[in-house]
Amino acid sequence: MNKSDESLLKNPYLHNGSNTVLKKSHFNSNKLVYIESYGCQMNFSDSEIIASILSSQGYKTVNSPDNANLILINTCSIRDKAEQTIRKRLEKFNSIKKINSKIKVGVLGCMAERLKDKLLEEEKIVDMVVGPDSYKDIPNLLKEINKGRDAINVILSKDETYGDISPIRIDSNGVTALVSITRGCDNMCSFCVVPFTRGRERSRDPKSILNEIQKLYKNGYKEITLLGQNVDSYLWFGGGLKKDFKTAPPLNKKTAINFSNLLEIVAISFPKIRIRFSTSNPQDMTLDVINTMAKHPNVCNSIHLPFQSGSDKILKKMNRMHSRDEYLDLIDKIREIIPDCGISQDIISGFPTENQTDHNQTLSLMDYVKFDYGFMFSYSERPGTLAERKMKDDVPENIKKERLQEIINKQLEHSFFRTKKYIGKTVCVLIEKSSKKSNNFWSGRTSQNTVVVFPKKNFKKGQFIDVEITNCTSATLIGNGINISNSI
Ligand code: 5AD
Ligand code: SF4
Repeated sequence: MNKSDESLLKNPYLHNGSNTVLKKSHFNSNKLVYIESYGCQMNFSDSEIIASILSSQGYKTVNSPDNANLILINTCSIRDKAEQTIRKRLEKFNSIKKINSKIKVGVLGCMAERLKDKLLEEEKIVDMVVGPDSYKDIPNLLKEINKGRDAINVILSKDETYGDISPIRIDSNGVTALVSITRGCDNMCSFCVVPFTRGRERSRDPKSILNEIQKLYKNGYKEITLLGQNVDSYLWFGGGLKKDFKTAPPLNKKTAINFSNLLEIVAISFPKIRIRFSTSNPQDMTLDVINTMAKHPNVCNSIHLPFQSGSDKILKKMNRMHSRDEYLDLIDKIREIIPDCGISQDIISGFPTENQTDHNQTLSLMDYVKFDYGFMFSYSERPGTLAERKMKDDVPENIKKERLQEIINKQLEHSFFRTKKYIGKTVCVLIEKSSKKSNNFWSGRTSQNTVVVFPKKNFKKGQFIDVEITNCTSATLIGNGINISNSI
């Protein structure tokens, strides 16, 4: 596995494939579904919605494609490699279908939206193609494919489509959960396929967000992550696209709720729940949001703030809507208001026309901020994006990879610099699960989103524990639990 694969696996919103198991009992043995998910946290959150829709149709989920009569793959298009991985999985599913021709295969998510009926032509094994806004139509589409016809729905919506659906928590640790607050993205970064696969940005009704968190709270969950491609541009004014806000009646404008309002409402309504959010964009993150974070102890001191490149020339070509200095000013403000805030990044190496000077500016920006961790990628040209249409993918692959490796090496140094600072300190950790390396250790995270492992003793999953840090790697703090924490 190369380093970029490693960063992919560590990425909380870029998982490399995981399957879904439902735990309900009212099922029909002809309705056995296997769901496999790829991509960002949003996709994993969507798979929980799909699971809920299928459960209401009597479907039981199984944990192997070999045992299913319906195989669904929830896909990602962000880089070419993500799509290649999915095509390989389809080959595997094809070999299963050869043994049992009755099995139906559906491709869901971003790749479905990007390729539409081309997928049905290119991948003969596929029976059903469903875009990210069309999951409510799955019961109808299933009727079609069961009659032996291919089925497709890739219509994007103007409204938050799934606010009324209670997601079924999948592979859940029972402690942390994802809650989506916006869908789509209006940013149009020139490298990014998301606006094409997930459509225009829409915000979810705050009432339905609060209802979902209330259910999670009642079920014992201790931490939620408010999720969106660009959470800081959350705006509720009664529904519809954000651009309609300009023409909305004045009453709507007066009563509109922006992201800092929403964060505050959630923080006050659920003082015993830890709150995270992802992803932020520099141009949309306001001082109000940072002040709200500082004001409420249950909002975690952690911000994921992609910057993509440290060069103004490249940022402009990326259509990023922020400059290097604006990004650094925001970092200064965050550190001034929340000195111990954990800050993480996304970086792309080798964007068209990037030269050594541009690359050095990315490295120098990293040196200034010393991010806690990050997700680093080499540029992958995506069909239909502005960059693909207007710019030549002119940085040779080997240079992209070399630069990426330099970026990853620097991040490892900085992560170690950050984790070392915790040695000798006591941090509050929410226990999420057993450590992967040893069943005698718990694994949880600090407010700053750093992973901590410590001996289990009599502590229990879901408790907030004060942990004294004795050692660390660049990614993990190691310590001893002292007592149940008073803070969260
Ligand atoms: N090539 C490489 N990385 C990309 N990302 C988005 N589009 C591309 C692309 N075409 C990265 C960005 C983004 C993260 C989710 O994925 O860094 O923030
Ligand atoms: Fe998520 Fe983007 Fe991948 Fe779609 S393309 S699954 S929005 S990361």
